[in-house]
Amino acid sequence: MTTDEERQAELQRLISRSALEWRLTFDAIAFPLLLVELDGRIIRMNEAARDLGGVSYEGAIHHPLAVLGEGHPWRAVRWLLAEVAQTDRRASTQTRGEDGRTWDVSVSPVLGPDRDRWAVVVIVDVTDTVRLQERLRRSETMSAMGGLVAGVAHEVRNPLFGISATLDAFESKFKRRTEYKRYLEVLRERVERLNLLMRQLLDYGKPSRLDLGEACPHEVMTSAIVACAPLAHQAGVEIAHEADPSLPRLVVDRHRVVQIFQNLLENAIQHSPAGGRVFFRAQAPEDGAAVRFSVEDGGPGFRPEDLDRLFEPFFSRRRGGTGLGLSIVQRIAEQHGGEVVAANRPEGGAVMTVTLPVCYDGDGRLTSQHPRL
Ligand SMILES: Nc1ncnc2c1ncn2[C@@H]1O[C@H](COP(=O)(O)OP(=O)(O)OP(=O)(O)O)[C@@H](O)[C@H]1O
Ligand SMILES: [Mg+2]
Repeated sequence: MTTDEERQAELQRLISRSALEWRLTFDAIAFPLLLVELDGRIIRMNEAARDLGGVSYEGAIHHPLAVLGEGHPWRAVRWLLAEVAQTDRRASTQTRGEDGRTWDVSVSPVLGPDRDRWAVVVIVDVTDTVRLQERLRRSETMSAMGGLVAGVAHEVRNPLFGISATLDAFESKFKRRTEYKRYLEVLRERVERLNLLMRQLLDYGKPSRLDLGEACPHEVMTSAIVACAPLAHQAGVEIAHEADPSLPRLVVDRHRVVQIFQNLLENAIQHSPAGGRVFFRAQAPEDGAAVRFSVEDGGPGFRPEDLDRLFEPFFSRRRGGTGLGLSIVQRIAEQHGGEVVAANRPEGGAVMTVTLPVCYDGDGRLTSQHPRL
């Protein structure tokens, strides 16, 4: 080999080496990164981006962005790219996918080697950060609102109790006067509704301590089903339940966890068609650190635009609903270090999933791992 050829070969080796180094670095970055032409043709994408798009290297390079699918965050990438093509300025947005994950997406214009207009796309999964921020905001609002709500509810309860007692006295005195019966029934029903609302408000507002103890998931599920049986019967809805026989025991405030499932089952029954079936399931995910409960119905499901607001206090679309049910569910789940997620099932209907961590040392003792123990 002549010296020229040797130099050429050495140069070639150096180029391949630096290409490899660059590719390794690019792939080691944990969040999805892409280099694209402004018309959307993919020039490079790292491993995280390929995983997210579910494509191989060969299946993506030189192909249009459409090969990555129509869902989020790719839809947002395409909008932003169109914007960058027009303005030649960096564009960014936050987008939430159908699966509940939140992404920060940014597209920055860059000049390619032949002064071609290219763009760098950076996608960061900020689901956990956004959840944490929402939780913090909620707990701040809650502590401000909680005191007020609990105070008002407490004050209203006494006169309400007075009205109930007066109704009792009235009823016993004028038992025989059938012309009053109709009015009494209406009054009773309204007072009962107010009582329920006050109980819910007190429950929601008071900064309650958890009364933790061991509980068997099957028993907790059964208690909630029994409590909802009259409503299910009235609505002609069947509750089917299924639980993994090997579920670990939980360290929870039993009464409150029953309340979670009762609220979810009530919603599912209220939204089910007559003759429908509600599925209540429990399973332990593979790591065994939590138990995942789900309540599924065959109703209309959630309106997509409501998904962000379901857990807000007083958000309701149900006639006669207070809109506290799901906010109480979320509050109790979070107090237990767990979480609740609302979604629509692909085959139709709603599914609510509650994950509660198992805080049990396996030897029959409570552990101190629980956030509130
Ligand atoms: N299984 C479901 N299917 C469809 N929509 C639902 C379902 N569960 C809840 N929703 C929607 O979410 C809203 C909020 O539910 P939430 O339980 O917080 O309040 P509510 O049922 O209206 O009143 P309440 O305080 O009596 O529970 C409901 O009004 C309804 O629009
Ligand atoms: Mg409800």
